[in-house]
Amino acid sequence: MSAPAHRLTAEDLLSAATGLLAAEQDPLANMANLSALILEALPDLNWAGFYLYRPHATAQATLFTLASAAPSGQPSASSPSGGELVLGPFQGRVACTRIAMGKGVCGTAAQTRTTQRVADVHAFPGHIACDAASASEIVIPLVAHGHLLGVLDLDSPRKDRFSPADQHLLETLVATFLRTLPVA
Ligand code: SME
Repeated sequence: MSAPAHRLTAEDLLSAATGLLAAEQDPLANMANLSALILEALPDLNWAGFYLYRPHATAQATLFTLASAAPSGQPSASSPSGGELVLGPFQGRVACTRIAMGKGVCGTAAQTRTTQRVADVHAFPGHIACDAASASEIVIPLVAHGHLLGVLDLDSPRKDRFSPADQHLLETLVATFLRTLPVA
């Protein structure tokens, strides 16, 4: 008998995520639990977690910068600027802690603010190999009210692991999470 495509259906995963997000408002706690939920729910993953955007101008690290950073000071696809991604809550092996904007799959998703669905990471120019086992990857940018907040990153040891349906599911999950964030 072949293994099920998903350990949880897309609906069940979204329902579980919605339940978690309704029960807690702290984004750090929610990102930690979402990472665990994703790794548990979707088969063939070796890493699931968040990188958070840190503008260079922000000396003090805050979880998110919705209140303190004007959208005009943020990188955009048309006008990329500085800043970097810093490792956030995740499940999986020890990972690289800082990724420059535009570098690797994560930095590309952050700079372009578009999902990167990579069937073969070894064919992606500049891919950053945190775990040699990773063969495919999907990275969804977190953008709220014009602000880049970070990215959600999933790695798989299986080539071409992520389908358009997976992309839709994960983008819906990210949108659900973003709706829970307070806006100052
Ligand atoms: N592969 C990523 C780096 C992060 S790890 O996969 C956890 C990239 O190329 O940006």
